[in-house]
Amino acid sequence: MKTETSPAVQASLRYDQMTVALHWLTAGLVILQFGLAELWGFFPRPAHRLMVLGHMSFGLVLAAVFATRIIWRLPSHRTHFNDGPDLMALLARLMHRTLYVLLAAEIVLGVATRWTDNHPLSFFGLLIASPFGTFSRATGHFVDQIHDWNAWVIIVLAGAHAAVALLHHFVLRDGVLGRMAFRSGKAAE
Ligand code: HEM
Ligand code: HEM
Repeated sequence: MKTETSPAVQASLRYDQMTVALHWLTAGLVILQFGLAELWGFFPRPAHRLMVLGHMSFGLVLAAVFATRIIWRLPSHRTHFNDGPDLMALLARLMHRTLYVLLAAEIVLGVATRWTDNHPLSFFGLLIASPFGTFSRATGHFVDQIHDWNAWVIIVLAGAHAAVALLHHFVLRDGVLGRMAFRSGKAAE
């Protein structure tokens, strides 16, 4: 279903509250994950270990939120906006899809990072052993590297995405950021 409304009405529409909640939960978890990973090197044990365990546990929470988001985004549930086929709308769609693909890859790589280092995953203390055999040090290191690089790509792209959202809000003043705001009002179908 696509909304066919005037620009004025379009600007007053917003994503349904489930989409908004899932978006900000995803954004918060991604920032938390990156922050923990970049900062744990500065902390001695046992704080360091707790941060690594927190990263794995919240990583699995992110996996569940992400899966919910994908199911919710399926055609019957999703909100569409009548942005038209112009270049900006095309670039926005491309950016959103790229973020979805990179996030999915990061979740798989996160799990793989732990298992290829021959350690079980930890979900708030519950240990989840690898169903695969043992891996060489080189394989473990390679997967760690890809997970790290992909994290940086996600943060750079998400930063650009957030900057564009702020540009819409403060310069173009077209209500695009408001679509992702928590508030009551008319939701697009
Ligand atoms: C968007 C989400 C994520 C981001 C941004 C992220 C970021 C990072 C980064 C930057 C590192 C490298 C840290 C370093 O050694 O310098 C790292 C390591 C790691 N990540 Fe993630 N990660 C994410 C999701 C996940 C998930 C879903 C899991 C697993 C459930 C996971 C498990 C791990 C593990 C096990 C390590 C290695 C920890 C160690 O050194 O022992 N990550 N992550
Ligand atoms: C790690 C952080 C973030 C990620 C991974 C992320 C990801 C996404 C994705 C995938 C969408 C597409 C939604 C859909 O159609 O299903 C989206 C939409 C949106 N995001 Fe983010 N986002 C992040 C942070 C932010 C921040 C910080 C802001 C604001 C400053 C923001 C503002 C928006 C807005 C306004 C939309 C709707 C755009 C439109 O309707 O064209 N996002 N985001």
